[in-house]
Amino acid sequence: MTAPESGADPAVHVFIGKGGVGKTTCAAATALHFAGRGERALAISTDPTPSLSHIFGLPGHTREVRPGLEILELGLEQVRRMWDERFGRDVYAVFSAFVDVDYPTFVAFMTSVLPGLNEEFMVDHIRRLAEEGTYRPIVWDTAPLGQTLALLETPALLGEHLRMAPRIYSRIRTSGEGRESILEVLRRWQGLAEACMAFLRKRVRFTMVTIPEALAVDQLEGVFGEMRSHGLGVDRLVVNNVVKTEDSEFLRRKAEGQGVQLRRLRETYGDLPIQELPLFPYELRGIEGLEEAARLLYP
Ligand SMILES: Nc1ncnc2c1ncn2[C@@H]1O[C@H](COP(=O)(O)OP(=O)(O)OP(=O)(O)O)[C@@H](O)[C@H]1O
Ligand SMILES: [Mg+2]
Repeated sequence: MTAPESGADPAVHVFIGKGGVGKTTCAAATALHFAGRGERALAISTDPTPSLSHIFGLPGHTREVRPGLEILELGLEQVRRMWDERFGRDVYAVFSAFVDVDYPTFVAFMTSVLPGLNEEFMVDHIRRLAEEGTYRPIVWDTAPLGQTLALLETPALLGEHLRMAPRIYSRIRTSGEGRESILEVLRRWQGLAEACMAFLRKRVRFTMVTIPEALAVDQLEGVFGEMRSHGLGVDRLVVNNVVKTEDSEFLRRKAEGQGVQLRRLRETYGDLPIQELPLFPYELRGIEGLEEAARLLYP
């Protein structure tokens, strides 16, 4: 298991897991926990259908939850703008030499078709925020797994783009200078991918969120494997929706089934801190409910 930079507090806490297991709830509770310690915390979401403000029980586009805690929901549009500002004109300058396409279409195409680009720029944005140091910590609420894991593939994809580039560009009759500039842009992309991976490995604390149901537990193994293959470790496991009251036959049987999965989790991931979060009889939403979750997650 990797740990964030030895000695230093992780700059970013990220919550990953399959759809609907409680990532946003845990992220929001964690942000409240840190904000309550007098720090300036930021809860940021890179889910294309974000729900942070909903979970906090606030109207969309709210920035300040309370003094010391801000939220930011990064949409596709913002990512597109970020990409545009940092790389768009450079790449367009080269492409427009041989493809007749207007600039907005080009940006929309690049940011929607090129796999991993959005994720890459989200990681890059969070890395920059962490380096600025305005917020400590940053709590990062991600989209369900498939999309999040895509971001880990980005360096490999960029490597592939780099491998292809000389072949493509050597056939294009641009001046030597034009060829030089596109290779330069691609080299910068690779540098960026490496910086993003280093950031994920050293400054980010990963919490895996799951529920004690067979399917969710089955799927965990693959996710852990995928993380390991990228040199990333999970620091903690949160098991959410655990039935703690058994005052009916229904709940007793539910708890029994969950018990089997909880034992599996403890056997397989016993080397990790495992935190259980009970299933509440109501939807965990709003500051009060989240504070209760925070007390349980950070006893
Ligand atoms: N322990 C709990 N008890 C009761 N309700 C919960 C609990 N944890 C989460 N919820 C509720 O379950 C719903 C899903 O939780 P949440 O949005 O945090 O999951 P998610 O993993 O972020 O989902 P998505 O993958 O869609 O982003 C929310 O309405 C939340 O209020
Ligand atoms: Mg969510």
